Amino acid sequence: MDGMANNAAPKNGDPPFFLKEIYEQPSALAYTLAQFLGHNFQLKMNRPPLDDQSLRQVKKAYITACGTSYHAAMTARYLIEELAQIPTVVEPASECGCHHMLVDESTLAVAVSQSGRSPDTLAALDLARSRGAFTLAVVNESDSPLTEAAMGTLLTLAGKVQSKASTKAFTSQSLVLALLGLRLAQSRNLLRKEWRQEIESFSRIPEMIREALGKRELEPKAIEVAQFLNGYSQAFILARGHLLPMALEGALKLKEVARLHAEGYLAGEFGHGPLAMAGPQAPIIMFSFSDERDATCLALAFELKARGAPLILITEDGPKKDQALASIADIFLPLPQVPSRLRPMVAVIPLQLIAYHLGHVRGLDVDHPGGTLQPDVGRQAEGGPGLRKGNNGSMIHP
Ligand code: BG6
Repeated sequence: MDGMANNAAPKNGDPPFFLKEIYEQPSALAYTLAQFLGHNFQLKMNRPPLDDQSLRQVKKAYITACGTSYHAAMTARYLIEELAQIPTVVEPASECGCHHMLVDESTLAVAVSQSGRSPDTLAALDLARSRGAFTLAVVNESDSPLTEAAMGTLLTLAGKVQSKASTKAFTSQSLVLALLGLRLAQSRNLLRKEWRQEIESFSRIPEMIREALGKRELEPKAIEVAQFLNGYSQAFILARGHLLPMALEGALKLKEVARLHAEGYLAGEFGHGPLAMAGPQAPIIMFSFSDERDATCLALAFELKARGAPLILITEDGPKKDQALASIADIFLPLPQVPSRLRPMVAVIPLQLIAYHLGHVRGLDVDHPGGTLQPDVGRQAEGGPGLRKGNNGSMIHP
């Protein structure tokens, strides 16, 4: 399905746009990545105004967006703080006008949007700019109010987006924000030894997602989970650290596309109240990767099982390698092994598939879930490299 012409309306028998766009993620990411990768492991974002000297003046990053784009924005915090050691605040755009936005001339303010037309995101960018911040748009729609308003633009080249619920734009945004984190780190002479390894690793992400989507058990397992969840009216998705945005995104997709009341939650916080909800009536989906798993998660998994909660584990390990968890998991959902930094972008894929199949099982129109106040505009970005429109400070090289 990847690589299908992406401007046709679904006809009888064609897959819905939502599913089609899930499978277009490898090529969306490959296009997005290609525009930034130069020779010799260079990241091509280094033209003014994203030159080293300007980037070194950045003391704080402030990232804002709505909906799924907000979850992509959340992924940036982990990488910008870890790789570039710059304090990063991520805020839903609708909240930006509700309190004093603490940004100034030393702030890099980034607005993330598929359409470039979300009114709250535009207002947040304007506010940041009026306070002196350098404003950057991460946007899929090259010809949009956001690209006009921002001082610089980094494009996602996810192509035309026709499903209301965002998938390929989301992973493309996460990738661009990760590359921005790398670029910020590079400007500070961090990651000197690890640079090549990091770039190599990020450049393999389209392939890794292709592998995840092609993995024989993944979609049948997602169907199994969807059929299982169909018998329930609620679910929780638990995660820690950099996987939290994926838990929130998965829960958003389950609500929007499949009308299942789902909550993404921090595993470490679940024991502070929400545990009261745990039981046979509330399935739990948990990310469980051996190198990130800790005593809190393990203890929680066993406690949830003791309370009778159905447990679905998304893991790279498989039941043979992880017999302790295998003994309590109702369903194991396998993912390919990927480096930890890239894991969020891969880990969201099964949640997208589960949301699609649950929506399908429930007979819902997955392309028009009706859960958004946004007008149906700006979902027409053209895809492919070279489709950038200049603006008053673009860093994208032709
Ligand atoms: C919502 C869409 O209405 O708007 C989401 O359903 C999207 O998919 C959100 O993430 C924000 O839109 P945009 O275009 O600013 O990314």
